[in-house]
Amino acid sequence: MLDAYLVSGYQNPRINVQSILVRHALIARLLGAEAGGLMEDEIRFAVQLNEVLRTRAADLGVKMGTYRNPVKHAAVRRVDAGIADREGEFTARWRERLDRLETDPVSLIEFACGSANDYRTFAEAGLGPHLDYLGVDLSEKNIANARRRHPEARFEVGDILRLPPDDGAFDYVVASDIFEHLSPEAMERALDEAMRLAREGLILTFFNMADAPDHEVRRRRAYHWNTLSRPRIEDRLDGGGFGTRLVIPVARWLQRVHGYPHSYNRRAWTIVAEREPRIVPAVPHHLEEPSA
Ligand SMILES: C[S@@+](CC[C@H](N)C(=O)[O-])C[C@H]1O[C@@H](n2cnc3c(N)ncnc32)[C@H](O)[C@@H]1O
Repeated sequence: MLDAYLVSGYQNPRINVQSILVRHALIARLLGAEAGGLMEDEIRFAVQLNEVLRTRAADLGVKMGTYRNPVKHAAVRRVDAGIADREGEFTARWRERLDRLETDPVSLIEFACGSANDYRTFAEAGLGPHLDYLGVDLSEKNIANARRRHPEARFEVGDILRLPPDDGAFDYVVASDIFEHLSPEAMERALDEAMRLAREGLILTFFNMADAPDHEVRRRRAYHWNTLSRPRIEDRLDGGGFGTRLVIPVARWLQRVHGYPHSYNRRAWTIVAEREPRIVPAVPHHLEEPSA
């Protein structure tokens, strides 16, 4: 169940815009600004395929979501069948570019990597050989799934609140859809750990963030479903020395820059934060034109 969780429907990392933005950040670090045109093409492609899912779900009467229930999950997979022949187009195109690249690998730790949810498309897009990658997750089952899928990469059971590696042990820390699930204290600690470990920067995906002055804490049984304050997170990043940032309110950006008015999640944000500008100037995904 975990192996198929969070990777179907709009969460499918081949067409999920936030998963694509994480790949673009890594690709920008490897290829620089020359890859910007293909990145914009991939966002347009993702918008098209998201729209195919949206209209097909409406036609089939399926409510899209992330389900453990097998019947509901199967309905989402019926919607997914509508993009099966196209969804791998861009991972194949990146692979052509990245297979030819000769450069030192970028070291990366991914917090809460699930069952290699995003790593599977890192590998498909040809990023694998260019990353010195470690994925960490609290769940042994997730790590067993990740290792089975990708024996060539490193995955370890671990708690992102207390990680053994030395300060600055990795170039980048990637963390997707985890901070909102932690208590406020644990979230602060995980953010400290991310900033402690990252030599160059952080690539962060949030599923529930708002332009509000404070975090909104919501406890749900054993975990949390908090709304994080964008300015408070940015203050923390400033405090840690990660002052070069790309901050993308995903739905607003898709609407304004790509003319796409629909979104499965209006509270999704992606933030790339660096000590020095490496990735941020090399991606074309700015809400406004960067000022001169
Ligand atoms: C919502 S899932 C996100 C998975 C993946 N990053 C993605 O975006 O699809 C949250 C993940 O965080 C993991 N997790 C929760 N608390 C953790 C902790 N303290 N340390 C490491 N992993 C944790 C869970 O096991 C789960 O795989």
